[in-house]
This record gives sequence, structure tokens and C-alpha cells, in this order.
Amino acid sequence: MATDTTFLSDIFFTEQERRGLALSYDDVLLKSGYSETMPTVVDTSTRFSKNITLHIPIVSAAMDTVTESGTAIALALLGGIGVIHKNLDIKIQASEVARVKHFLHGVINSPVTVAPTDTVKKVLNMRENRQLPFHSFPVVDGKGKLVGFVGRADFDFCDDEGVRIKSIMNTKLLTAPATTNVRSAHALMIKNKRKSLPLVDKTGKLVGLYTFKDTSRIVREDQSRHTLDDNNQLRVAAAVGTGADTLKRVIALVKEGVDAVVVDTAHGDSAPVYKTIKVLKKKFPKLDIVAGNVSDGASARRLAEAGADGIKVGQGPGSICTTRVVAGIGAPQVSAVADCARAVRDLNVPVCADGGITQTGHITIALGAGASTVMLGSLLAGTDEAPGEIVHHNGRQWKLYRGMGSLGAMMESAASRNRYGQDSASVDKLVPEGIEGMTPYKGSLEVVVHQYVGGLRGGMGYVGAKNVSELHHKARFHRITTAGKSESHPHDVVITKEAPNYSPKS
Ligand code: XMP
Repeated sequence: MATDTTFLSDIFFTEQERRGLALSYDDVLLKSGYSETMPTVVDTSTRFSKNITLHIPIVSAAMDTVTESGTAIALALLGGIGVIHKNLDIKIQASEVARVKHFLHGVINSPVTVAPTDTVKKVLNMRENRQLPFHSFPVVDGKGKLVGFVGRADFDFCDDEGVRIKSIMNTKLLTAPATTNVRSAHALMIKNKRKSLPLVDKTGKLVGLYTFKDTSRIVREDQSRHTLDDNNQLRVAAAVGTGADTLKRVIALVKEGVDAVVVDTAHGDSAPVYKTIKVLKKKFPKLDIVAGNVSDGASARRLAEAGADGIKVGQGPGSICTTRVVAGIGAPQVSAVADCARAVRDLNVPVCADGGITQTGHITIALGAGASTVMLGSLLAGTDEAPGEIVHHNGRQWKLYRGMGSLGAMMESAASRNRYGQDSASVDKLVPEGIEGMTPYKGSLEVVVHQYVGGLRGGMGYVGAKNVSELHHKARFHRITTAGKSESHPHDVVITKEAPNYSPKS
């Protein structure tokens, strides 16, 4: 990806800035240009952070009504990435990460094991506490040697939870060497009618595990569009704050294999964020750290120079945000994105445009302005995979969606108070920077993301950009007026059928 050139949009945005003008998504449109690029062939791959590549530029917001493991799994399967929110106990947030990482394994390098002397009750409690979605465990002795295997049926047929694992485990083991690849493992399990295949070294020590569920999916599915790590596991990020428990939180997240942490605050260009980046970079030099939020180029530059591997841009554009009206702070989002992306371009640090995206065309505009990804809150909160139940109101289906700085979220969670720098405020002194509401129920995440990426593909085709780097280089903007905006939306007709990718109110 080229990083050192001038983009066509630079002239437009620097001219607006010279006039002291900041613009938002609905203030601009991309110009159409000569194109040899059809939407079906555009390459939407991009980077979330220095070392994390995505197939689609969609990131789900670190919000308690948007991203837990369900959203993160669905999005990573489609080529994006989810950021698990931090309004969760450390243990629970780490187990949400584990759920994503365990969803689609190649080989499981560090399988959860049990000891022959453990009681069934102890193992079932451990499973419950760690919220493990599986029932099968290799049994290893004190030296790590495989001595048995327990599976779902062994637990189902056990009527005394006080007995020890060694009395219910299967000792007729099928094993394979550590070098066994996924296809050979799959064939071996079929041949022997086994659902798990422990891998052992020459001394009989357990070194890995394949499960039939995972190998079947890998062998049958086209994995080329999933967001995968080097171990064929889905990638996932998690939000952290700047409070006293941050290091403990990150240690727990890293233990479960998190791919990146997002230092998620309302004011990214602040001393606690720099301190957190420094501590985390020292302790985990290989872990990608995305930091934010900022809305000014100088702030983005400072974060990138401090070691951030990705910058999150957006102060107040979100659908549930009130920061701008409460605090009088922020910058309309397109200008903020362009300014920040330009400021860190030569450092090769990707920018994530966070918040304010309400139409699919805004995604093309955000990327055209220099972002590498967009973070979506309201556009994903209504999906099946987002946390929370469907509610019925006025004959329609909705899902609850609230700001992380809303009174409800801040009252419930120290992490929310930390995000808005109100760690020590008493409940009656909290100053919210967000609201609580609901958003239309949208069904499956896969279906809505297909529409969002479809809009982007169309936009890239109009610009003549065959990939995101070309979109950065070729995008040309013009400012539009209120009349232009009205003309852009359906007008002078009564809409008789809802389109899957357009809502006049969104
Ligand atoms: P959208 O527009 O996609 O925005 O719904 C999601 C983003 O909004 C940010 N966020 C907040 N900002 N007060 C704020 O000022 C809040 O309570 C709040 N909660 C979330 C966040 O960056 C998210 O990704």
C-alpha cells in the first residue's frame, strides 16, 4: 500500500481547512470518474491496524449493545473484525474473546485439559466458569502426557459428579503426530469414527488437538474470505480502558489469543492513553494496539508516534453521541478523518473512521477521505448477532442501542465512566455524553453487511478504484448544498416498498 504520495482529495480538504470549515458525510459526495473497474471485481481488502489485514473494511463498535462474541464471529467470518466491548468483567471479556478464537480452529495449540484426578463436578464447574462451548477434554498427567480423553457422552452418562475423571475417561486413544495437517486429521477422524484427534510428541506429551467440527468446517468451507490468524483462528479485537485494571485485563485477553486491543476512550490525545500505550507496548511488543478517539491531525500523529498501530477517529459523530452538544467539542467526521489520515500517512498507520455512518455511501466517502476501515455501531446494533433481545414497539421490531457514555451505561460500568474520564464521579454527579435508544431490528448480520459492502463496491466502481489504496489516491470530492442533499435522497414519490439498503430515517 503506497503511503508517501499526495492524494487528489488533499487539495479539497486542505482548502476547506484553510477556510476554517469542517465537513460531515452528508456535506460531500465523491465524483464519478473514468472506470475500467466493475463492482464485482474490486478488492475491498484493507488493514485494521499495522499487522491485521481484513477482507472488508468493516469493524463493529466496542459497545455493549453491539459487540460480544456473536457479532465478532459473524463479522470475522465475513472478512471484517469485531471489537469486544469492555463493560464486562475481565474474566467474561476474556471468555468472549476465547469463544471467537475457539470458533474455527485449525489445530488447537493449547487445548483445555483436565487431570485424571479431577472430579467430574470440578470439570463441569470449570466449563461453566470459563463459559466453554465444548465438552471434550484431553486428560493429561502431571507431566503433560496424554492418558485419556473425556467427551460429551462420558459426562452425559455419568450419574455421580463426585467420581474422578479417570473412572469415566476413554483410554483407547487415537492420536497423531504434531505435524499432522488439517486434511489428514479430518480423514483420520472419519476413518476411525472419532470426533477429536489429540496430537502428541514422541514422548506421548499432548501438543495439540483437532476437533471434527472444526476440521469439517475448514475442509468444506471456502475460508478465503474469513479474517484469520496464522493459526487459522478467527481474529478478534477487544477494547480496554486506561484504568488501574488495564494491564490485568490485557494479560487475560492475550492469554485467550486476542489479536489487537483498542485503547478506547472519548479523548485519545490524553496523558492516560499515552501512558497505557507505553506500558502495553513494553509488555506486549507484538500485540497491535489501536488507540483513540481523536478528531485532529496533530492528535493522530502524536498517537502514531507514541506507538499506536491504528488510530480511531471520531469525536461526537455517533448516532447516540452527545459529546458535541454537551461539551462543545469535536469535528465533523469527514474532515476529521481526512485530517487524521493525512497526518499519519507517511507512518503507514491505518485510520478507522468511527461513528456517524448511517448510509452505505458514507463508507465509500470515509475510505475516500483516507480511512482504511469504518467502525459501525447503529448499523449493526439491530442485527441478530448483537447482544440483547428484540423489543416490540408501535408494531415494529427493534433492538436496544445505547451510548457507552449514556447514563445507563455509566451507572452500570466503571469502564464506561473511565471512557469519559469520570472514574471517580459519584452516580448522581455523572455527566452523560450519550443517550439510550433503540434501532430497527435488521435480521442477520451477514445480510446487512452484504449490503454495506455492496454499496462500497459500487462506489469504488464509480471512482474507478480497483482496491482501497486506489480509492485513497483517486477519490475526488465536492461539497454539496442542502438542495443537493435533498436531490440525493428519493424525492417527490411515496416509497411503497422498503429497500434493503435504504431507510429515509437512518
Ligand atoms: P454510530 O454512529 O455507528 O457510532 O452509532 C458508534 C460510535 O459512537 C461512539 N460512542 C459514543 N460517543 N457518546 C459519544 O460521544 C457515547 O455515549 C458513545 N457511545 C459510543 C463510539 O466511538 C462508537 O464506536
